[in-house]
Amino acid sequence: MLSADIIRKDFPILDTDIGGAPVAYLDNAATTQVPLPVLERVREHYLHDNANVHRGIHTLSERSTAAFEGARETVARFLGAESAEEIIFTQGTTDAINTVASGMRRSIGRGDSIVVTSLEHHSNFVPWQQLCEEKGARFGVVPCPAGEIDMAALRRELESAPKLVCVTQVSNLTGTVMPLREIIECAHAAGAAVLVDGAQGVRHEPVNVRELDCDFYCFSGHKLLAPTGIGVLYGKREHLQQLTPARYGGGMVDIVLASGTTFGDLPYRLEAGTPNYVGAVALGAAIEYIERTGREEISRTEHELLSYAERALAQIDGLRILGSPARRAGVISFTLDDIHPYDAASILDKLGIALRSGTHCAQPGLNECGVEAAIRLSPAFYNTREEIDRCCAAIRRTMEMLAKWTKS
Ligand code: ALA
Repeated sequence: MLSADIIRKDFPILDTDIGGAPVAYLDNAATTQVPLPVLERVREHYLHDNANVHRGIHTLSERSTAAFEGARETVARFLGAESAEEIIFTQGTTDAINTVASGMRRSIGRGDSIVVTSLEHHSNFVPWQQLCEEKGARFGVVPCPAGEIDMAALRRELESAPKLVCVTQVSNLTGTVMPLREIIECAHAAGAAVLVDGAQGVRHEPVNVRELDCDFYCFSGHKLLAPTGIGVLYGKREHLQQLTPARYGGGMVDIVLASGTTFGDLPYRLEAGTPNYVGAVALGAAIEYIERTGREEISRTEHELLSYAERALAQIDGLRILGSPARRAGVISFTLDDIHPYDAASILDKLGIALRSGTHCAQPGLNECGVEAAIRLSPAFYNTREEIDRCCAAIRRTMEMLAKWTKS
């Protein structure tokens, strides 16, 4: 286990007083906090290296470009990609998935199909549903009863030889760790490419895109200790090359004439306009921080905290945990008797406990669990068992208070 006392010094926000005590920030699946070395890197860039990238031959532009491209190399190494050209910087996971969906608009039509699972975040569900509706293609949804993918249903979907299977690495609702290798093998055998949404998985699970053999992999910086507005789309070169650019503009073209335009090479042809280069530099710094701290140690600490939380929550009468997957990572969602999750979460906030409540952008999965909303706890490696104990005590107190108010 990592030493929380040492780690927490890098995250001063965790000392914020809410309700008379330091906040127990247990909403890390929504966004993680940013450590001081990453903030310092952003400050250093603006103080000493800032200029637009790939647009000048002056010293500051060259320094800025070197930092930006260095970050791309760092991401490529972190994901185990074959080359940095396979790393496209995006605004986040949603933007990455939409880049692929929009990029396929000329290559999909009637008679084609795209398959997702019921446990996808809306960002890996709605873009495919909309693309299929627009193009008259079939949109297949594989059920995940009790938070486990129905592999027989996936195999049936694969009989229609879909172009693409889109699957999350870890569900942001039930925490299900998807059997990615098995899914990818089956999909490839049926001739389908596979897009993996790594937004919830990238911090908890080992990722090597070449070993996984996925065709696309996406994640967001803000769930990996970096600031918001930066994310990554990894794709195998042959797949990225087939995408029609979602956006046109500067930086992605070769020759522009009134008679027509030719486009540049990867990765730039999918990065029109000034990229969020400071965000990319910050993401590179966040990955270096994770590597210094120990990627496996972080993952082990988070798995240990989640199991501790699961055992503690299971002791609370009236608390129902959603899903019972064989392997869970990152999050536990639950309901409390007939208390609305918003009511519970707003009382918990007054007690200094930060949890997410609502639909979690995962309505198909919630429907499958038979509920409209839930509360979610998601620890990070800088959390402690003591915070989880405080959270459980606060949940009990909330349930007692609400039961009293309802009776009176
Ligand atoms: N996608 C983020 C979540 O699941 C915001 O909370």
